[in-house]
Amino acid sequence: MNSNPAPLSTWARNVSPSPTLVIDGKAKALLAAGEDVCGFAAGEPDFDTPEHIKAAAISALNTGKTKYAPTPGIEALRVAIAERYLSDYGLKVSSSQVVVSPGGKYSCYLAIMATCSPGDEVIIPAPYWVSYPEMVKLAGATPKMVLADDSTHFKLTPAMLEAAITPRTRLLVMNSPSNPTGVVYTRDELAAITAVAVAHNLYILSDEMYEHLLYDGAQATCIATLSKEAEARTIVVAGFSKTYAMTGWRLGTLVAPAPIVKACTELQSQMSSNATTFAQWGAVAALKEKEKTAASLAMMMTAFDRRRKFLHTELNKIPGMTCLLSQGAFYLFPKITAFGLPDEEFCAKLLEEEKVAAVPGSAFGAPGYLRLSYATSDEIIRKGVERLARFCAKLKK
Ligand SMILES: Cc1ncc(COP(=O)(O)O)c(C=O)c1O
Repeated sequence: MNSNPAPLSTWARNVSPSPTLVIDGKAKALLAAGEDVCGFAAGEPDFDTPEHIKAAAISALNTGKTKYAPTPGIEALRVAIAERYLSDYGLKVSSSQVVVSPGGKYSCYLAIMATCSPGDEVIIPAPYWVSYPEMVKLAGATPKMVLADDSTHFKLTPAMLEAAITPRTRLLVMNSPSNPTGVVYTRDELAAITAVAVAHNLYILSDEMYEHLLYDGAQATCIATLSKEAEARTIVVAGFSKTYAMTGWRLGTLVAPAPIVKACTELQSQMSSNATTFAQWGAVAALKEKEKTAASLAMMMTAFDRRRKFLHTELNKIPGMTCLLSQGAFYLFPKITAFGLPDEEFCAKLLEEEKVAAVPGSAFGAPGYLRLSYATSDEIIRKGVERLARFCAKLKK
């Protein structure tokens, strides 16, 4: 009998683990071992879920909401999501166009699996969220990264998109506000990009996960509201993780035209059945108890904005470092090419020598940058940026 097991699948061998989760895991392990680590790697609010949302989930548990839910989500939540798209953006969708999934990540995966086949190409503007290329590969399709660096303020232009399209292009992935840059596209910019996608008959995955985390008067645009043609080909992904500090609840949403919703529901029925039932009841409270939710969000945004401004100012004080001011999400993306060290080595040494965890730009398809999340305490940010400045000063010598 052959004692060597057969090789694992192509998918298992080709997929890369999420670098942000790996670095955050390392930082947490060092912390647990008693090291004084300043973690800038985690992409999650450092606040707890608001009490009224927790209370609704607890009440759901206590009243037996512990069984399977309908595959696309409980009707009360799907209706609340449809209503909020109408009030937030004037987008008229019926609850039957909504799918609730176990996380925004999973919603993106469903959208990609529903639209892409082997041989298809998917255009992903870089810097990109780490999971898009891996999901595209898992669908058997080919990711085509288009780098939009600080020369275009990290924004894809219509000309860049046009140049990347081939007869095989099936899907364009957009993410505004962006992880990792915090950049927010204007409505006009998105309209121009969407017009190119429509002209080439592409689907659009619009990942609007950070739509409510905005600063300096920036406005989020829901791509499906740009035109009837845009609406007919856009899958709008959002979720509860970032806005409501519910990362551990694993709840994402997806709004799309009926045939795509049907495909996503069928895929979900085979892959996860449904998002956790009592968690969905918590999400209903997040959307229905508007005043309490708005107050929690406002409190969180005041802290994020203060930290954003402080960190941005301090980063730009470091000789050799430059950083654009983001208008959304909770990330800054400074340039570190002046220090003469590849970004991955920079981050490894920074963690080793100064116990500061940051994610290298390469993980997002943009070497020469760092992603710093300011969804962490003022104290850690102050201490961490001091250490970063000391580290950079040593490199400069
Ligand atoms: C751009 C983007 N999309 C989707 C997600 C997924 O969020 P969730 O925790 O709901 O799966 C994240 C989380 O980091 C993100 O940054």
